[in-house]
Amino acid sequence: MTDTTEYVAYPQDRTCPYHPPAAYEPLRDGRPLTRVTLYDGRTAWLVTGHDTARRLLVDRRLSTDRTRDGFPVTNARIAAMRGRTAALLGVDDPEHHTQRRRVLPEFTLKRAAALRPRIQEIVDERLDAMIARGGPADLVTAFALPVPSMVICALLGVPYADHEFFEEQSRRLLRGPTGADTREARDRLETYLGELIDHKREHPGTGLLDDLVRRSAAEGTADPADRAELIALAVILLVAGHETTANMISLGTFTLLRHPERTAELRADPALLPAAVEELLRMLSIADGLLRLATEDIETDGETIRAGDGVVFATSVINRDTAVYPEPDALDFGRPARHHVAFGFGIHQCLGQNLARAELEIALHTLFARLPGLRLAAPAEEIPFKPGDTVQGMLELPVAW
Ligand code: HEM
Repeated sequence: MTDTTEYVAYPQDRTCPYHPPAAYEPLRDGRPLTRVTLYDGRTAWLVTGHDTARRLLVDRRLSTDRTRDGFPVTNARIAAMRGRTAALLGVDDPEHHTQRRRVLPEFTLKRAAALRPRIQEIVDERLDAMIARGGPADLVTAFALPVPSMVICALLGVPYADHEFFEEQSRRLLRGPTGADTREARDRLETYLGELIDHKREHPGTGLLDDLVRRSAAEGTADPADRAELIALAVILLVAGHETTANMISLGTFTLLRHPERTAELRADPALLPAAVEELLRMLSIADGLLRLATEDIETDGETIRAGDGVVFATSVINRDTAVYPEPDALDFGRPARHHVAFGFGIHQCLGQNLARAELEIALHTLFARLPGLRLAAPAEEIPFKPGDTVQGMLELPVAW
């Protein structure tokens, strides 16, 4: 879709890391759907209404297949990834359903509950090490990043000893300076995970990747296409499994430190924790901008989304729709926040959400319980956070206690 009308540019940087960009204010006028200009000059529909978002996110006429012509791209890195073998998020049903079924048993509520003791150990070890080194510390490198990174490594069967390598490639994938840089980071991740998968064929271990390798060998599908799909699956699980949760821990901590009255509430009543995590997920909406392409015309809210139009879901705005969340900019642990779309909705709804909730509850609870004097070690306005075209979070978080 190209036309000459001036629309709000999407995406834009946040002005405060836990609020939608101030530039999106005109998009918060109650209209559920509007048009925006993307970074490459093309226009797309931006969904901002909660009801419309939940309806469209389950609509099979919207595709996540990024190889389709006209698929909306919101930055050069996404453009650079076009044509790569995708797993789960870049794949439509029925293929998507087959892939998701292969990994789903590992991400149930029951599996997340069984992982809680191990998550608690990892959280305790990281905090012990941070406290032993003494403050001030950068909470991102000392705690927020290593915790989910160690958890996803244990779950997948990826050696944590390689964390500096894959964390760096993930960072370049999501925030690298150019498309070429993104492609190189993806190549390096694919080579690394391909070699790991080949090694597991000879020396099977106990992680999810080991199970997948074993199953594909047993089903006689260990061919190159299957290897490429396994690698794509490993990439998304490894990257989504640590980056997103790390951002929620750092930005969640920053937000709580900026709302001392809410933190006091939480310390006084730990039973509030699940509601607090849900409300933080809603308020922070770190995955801000879910991408789809219309494959048929769709009539909604008095507009026609034409086949071939890009559709972007602004989760930060959707999760502040006043029709669902009164006083949406306030952090309120008493509100029913559960119907937010911070994990998406429909068939692509976050596979790791049970795991992420468990990690967030344990990490935030333990951090604030063990460090009653936790505070920012730099003026809040000077602490750098991530640009708007990537997963939202803190670049660093200097803290003392
Ligand atoms: C708080 C942390 C997290 C947030 C906010 C988050 C957010 C999201 C969102 C919004 C989507 C849907 C994207 C779309 O519809 O376009 C998604 C999908 C996904 N997430 Fe997460 N995520 C988090 C943690 C995790 C973790 C820990 C994993 C672990 C592996 C994970 C794995 C995935 C996968 C594989 C998908 C694609 C699912 C599919 O297409 O079927 N995520 N996530």
